[in-house]
Amino acid sequence: MTKTDPLKTEFCSLVGCDYPIIQAGMGGVARWELAAAVSAAGAFGCLGMVRESADRIRSEIRAVRQRTDRPFGVNLIPAATPPQLFAQELAACIDENVEHIVYFWDVVPAAIDAAKRGGCKVLYQVGSVEDAVEAEAAGADVIIAQGVEGGGHVHGHVTSLTLLPQVINAVKIPVIASGGFADGASLIAAIALGSAGVHCGTVFVASEESFAHQIHKERIIQARETETVHTDAFAINWPPQSPVRVLANKTTQCLNDRLWGYSDQSFPHDAIAEEEGRPVYRFSTDSPLRSMTGELDQLALFAGQVTGQVNEIRPAAMIVDQMIRHARQRLKQLGFDDVWREE
Ligand SMILES: Cc1cc2nc3c(=O)[nH]c(=O)nc-3n(C[C@H](O)[C@H](O)[C@H](O)COP(=O)(O)O)c2cc1C
Repeated sequence: MTKTDPLKTEFCSLVGCDYPIIQAGMGGVARWELAAAVSAAGAFGCLGMVRESADRIRSEIRAVRQRTDRPFGVNLIPAATPPQLFAQELAACIDENVEHIVYFWDVVPAAIDAAKRGGCKVLYQVGSVEDAVEAEAAGADVIIAQGVEGGGHVHGHVTSLTLLPQVINAVKIPVIASGGFADGASLIAAIALGSAGVHCGTVFVASEESFAHQIHKERIIQARETETVHTDAFAINWPPQSPVRVLANKTTQCLNDRLWGYSDQSFPHDAIAEEEGRPVYRFSTDSPLRSMTGELDQLALFAGQVTGQVNEIRPAAMIVDQMIRHARQRLKQLGFDDVWREE
């Protein structure tokens, strides 16, 4: 008897990938090298293109397509991008026939509508049941439910495994779990709760192909799960009250200790690094990239609590492969090895 493979979820059928693992579109970090490697490995890669120029977006999309014909997405953040730039970014994606747009932060119904009219499927990462319902009502095809343990900007208030079943109960479209996923066992846990897959950021920052600076990757593989902080310290570039989860460093420590004496509104534009002549400010949302120099360990070292489980820098394809093997091994241990037939 052939039964359905539990790892072939409705998300895989919807977008055409083999495995229900979505690599988060991370600004600066997730460029063509990473997105192409993840998609070529059978999972779903995503370009992190927040506030990038239309030209940059076009060239990144083309670079992915030169390396793979597998499906991928482009991540944009309507609520944290000036409207004119956002319109140019989306127009570039539509011109390039991008099939999947992944949005994050506050739900902007007009942005969903514009992408749908351009022929794209819309995945929306949200942090609450209310936002999931709003995104579905505005036409989103997939909800990504982000828990508070995730790395980078955090819209969630509760853990991903707490939020996930509540979002699943509230919407009819597929829901993907985000925050805290880096191995196959946690993928099985999410699927057991009704998720159509997992969305992973931190584990892919520590991939060979990510554009993160080596300093960032090494901090992630060394850090324990207790070493992240949820903070408003990195505020320049984003709307107010946009907390992030990062690895603790001198910047977060000093702010916590109130040694700087700054109020939320008065973050000084104190350049501590640079990227090709552009100053990078201490309290900006820039994370250290390969192209930067300066006091990089004091920038925003975005990482989720799952950092405690990420202990080596691996090729992205190996991350995907090991997650899937681990998931199948866990299914077998649970006695589900005979319920589907692998191709
Ligand atoms: C370095 C880094 C940068 C991120 N940048 C973005 C971004 O530009 N756009 C976005 O939608 N999410 C971004 N995120 C958040 C992810 O989409 C996702 O919610 C989070 O990584 C999931 O939790 P995890 O880190 O435990 O896997 C970022 C996360 C990290 C770690």
